[in-house]
Amino acid sequence: MSDLPSRCRRPGVGRHVSSDVLRLAVLASGRGSNLAAILDACRRPGYPARVVVVVSDREGAPALERAREAGAEAVCLDPKAYGDRSAYDTALLATLEHHRPGLVCLAGFMRVLTPTFVRAWTGRLMNIHPSLLPAFPGLHAQRQALEYGVRIAGVTVHFVDEGVDTGPIIVQASVPVLPDDSQDSLSARILGEEHRLYPEAIRLFAEGRLCITGRRVLVKERA
Ligand code: GRF
Repeated sequence: MSDLPSRCRRPGVGRHVSSDVLRLAVLASGRGSNLAAILDACRRPGYPARVVVVVSDREGAPALERAREAGAEAVCLDPKAYGDRSAYDTALLATLEHHRPGLVCLAGFMRVLTPTFVRAWTGRLMNIHPSLLPAFPGLHAQRQALEYGVRIAGVTVHFVDEGVDTGPIIVQASVPVLPDDSQDSLSARILGEEHRLYPEAIRLFAEGRLCITGRRVLVKERA
């Protein structure tokens, strides 16, 4: 698609013009394999982004260690230190403001963000979900897919809106569901695609090639 509608919203464009590399914040609660894939991509010559901060809500999250190893700032915001979700998200907003990311990537961040937070980052907030949305939103997407009996599963990277896994879809990839799949084997197959797709979606954003128009995200061809 080469012609974009004139009212197409170009998220992020102009937000990181002072440097040619997009500043990323990654929010992760757990093992951080998607974070690792993003960090790997950032090491490749010519990749137009770098991780400046990783925030977790869990002290022992391996994601924090991965961040430190890669030389990115690692911040733990423990929910127990905050009275409610709103106080937590206020602290999260302040942390992000300090690091000035152009894009915030949720990568297994196990908290639902408040509307105030989402509004502050609309169009600059991405999530990865291990299903072909809108099928199987929420927790245990791979188990939902197996239980439903679908033959094709997959992964979605989408912009975040105020719902759970409902925002405009950026990219998707499918994988087959095999007759003898367990939740683990299907999750592993999907994860392989996640690690390929998230860095790709970030690249498209960093290159200013994504336009949100209503529910649709248009991907502009490389100039
Ligand atoms: C991934 O399956 C991702 O799609 C989902 O949470 C999981 C995080 O895994 N949102 P990891 O921490 O990136 O390994």
